[in-house]
Amino acid sequence: MRVFVPRDSAARSVGADEVAERITASGVEVVRTGSRGMLWLEPLVEVETTAGRIGYGPVMPEDVDGLIAAGMLDGRGESLGLVEELPWMKRQERLTFARVGVVDPLSAEDYEVHGGMSGLRAALSMTPAEVVEVVVDSGLRGRGGAGFPTGIKWRTVLGAEAGLKFVCCNADEGDSGTFADRMLIEGDPFTLIEGMAIAAYAVGAAEGYVYLRSEYPDAVATLKDAIELAKTNRWLGPDVLGSGFGFDLHVRVGAGAYICGEETSMLESLEGKRGMVRAKPPIPALQGLFGRPTVVNNVLSLATVPTILAHGAQAYASYGTGRSRGTSVFQLGGNVARGGIVETAFGITLDELVNDFGGGTATGRPTRAVQVGGPLGAYLPVEQFGLPMDYEEFAKAGAMVGHGGIVVFDDTVDMAAMARFAFEFCAAESCGKCTPCRVGAVRGVETIDRIVAGTERAKNLVVLEDLCELMTDGSLCAMGGLTPMPVRSAVRHFGEDFNA
Ligand code: NAI
Ligand code: SF4
Repeated sequence: MRVFVPRDSAARSVGADEVAERITASGVEVVRTGSRGMLWLEPLVEVETTAGRIGYGPVMPEDVDGLIAAGMLDGRGESLGLVEELPWMKRQERLTFARVGVVDPLSAEDYEVHGGMSGLRAALSMTPAEVVEVVVDSGLRGRGGAGFPTGIKWRTVLGAEAGLKFVCCNADEGDSGTFADRMLIEGDPFTLIEGMAIAAYAVGAAEGYVYLRSEYPDAVATLKDAIELAKTNRWLGPDVLGSGFGFDLHVRVGAGAYICGEETSMLESLEGKRGMVRAKPPIPALQGLFGRPTVVNNVLSLATVPTILAHGAQAYASYGTGRSRGTSVFQLGGNVARGGIVETAFGITLDELVNDFGGGTATGRPTRAVQVGGPLGAYLPVEQFGLPMDYEEFAKAGAMVGHGGIVVFDDTVDMAAMARFAFEFCAAESCGKCTPCRVGAVRGVETIDRIVAGTERAKNLVVLEDLCELMTDGSLCAMGGLTPMPVRSAVRHFGEDFNA
């Protein structure tokens, strides 16, 4: 008899630690797991039975004694039923997140029992070039937001002549409404470690860094512990799995700058410098960390690689639509009744995500808009909820899938204020290196203020569009280059909010 209680920080923030302590006090074995991603049910307690895990949630600390008295520890009493059978779980296709919420994140044994390390073992039986081609064939694209083909990036690094190469994981998850990187690291850190080891083997790197934001202290602690355990198990170190291939991994903690999520700023920060954007070219794949060829990938891209190597490129590529292959981990947040993590094949529509999974708004009021892809993503109206999650379809609609964050707003939202916020955010987070972003963001706030005040409204709407065009075309990186996206989409779809 085992009982599972998440140790994910979302669950801990609503009392999971105290729930776990109270259940432990009753004498049963409590296993701390990641979160299943059904955040409205946290703390979610799961009880092992012969039929599977029965769920109870949300369980507040003060509920524990009553639930135990009603038979919770035998899977009786008022429960949610089998967790895997809940509609939210059953409709998902969990590949990257397959173990999150299931395993003890710091149990090497649990990891292997649930298929862990089979991807790295498969990779080590191939040549590096063969591993790269498997990743190319899988169709995996960068999950950090840009959607660049991961295998092509690796091929560039593999082909670069250098004695020293690096693999860097971007875990600076700064986009508002995104939390999948954190949940993966807190719930299944060995998957990221395995993915990074595969990347290192494929491109010929011997050292890796995870750049993790300081706002995620639980993830930092879990990952550091996992790295130590991985070294003990020879999943990292001078002789990975007895193959003779050596790979060492370090964690570096950021200091709260959004721009350090931009890959070249991140590299500057990793080198101990202020996080300022570098001009590209040269691309990091050729001249990255300390000027050496470097793979820079997001957490989810790297954490998806083990399942691709374990089950083959075609198994992964069989999911998805168009050029958006495989699954993606969507994150539902904002004013939504059921927020959390949904991993499904690309092609699922916004309507299915927001209404079927999310249950509409938390306030019960009509949904008016969603912002997809973080603070630099477009605002989309309900009329566009038929849009499938697909990189190209979103681009055609003037939007982006980004890192998969979906933030829901009800009909009380003021879209002019949201457009103003995009500029304010850019002004606060700009690294200051180029003029369109550094100055444009400030001018943008002023221009929106004039528009909503009714001061020469028509003229200032033209100025706003000019400014957006200049920032899109003239900014050095995506920070300034994408800030116009939420602004333009707000004007296009919710123009009435910009009237005085
Ligand atoms: P990008 O399109 O310039 O580059 C994408 C990646 O491909 C980079 O790693 C780049 O170095 C690499 N690349 C390009 N050509 C290559 C080649 N020939 N060979 C090898 N590698 C090559 O996009 P960028 O500026 O890296 O990212 C912008 C995206 O970041 C946005 O679309 C946005 O969605 C996302 N973003 C994500 C955030 C998050 O919290 N996850 C925060 C802010 C933005
Ligand atoms: Fe820096 Fe903004 Fe220019 Fe990017 S666009 S380099 S954040 S000033």
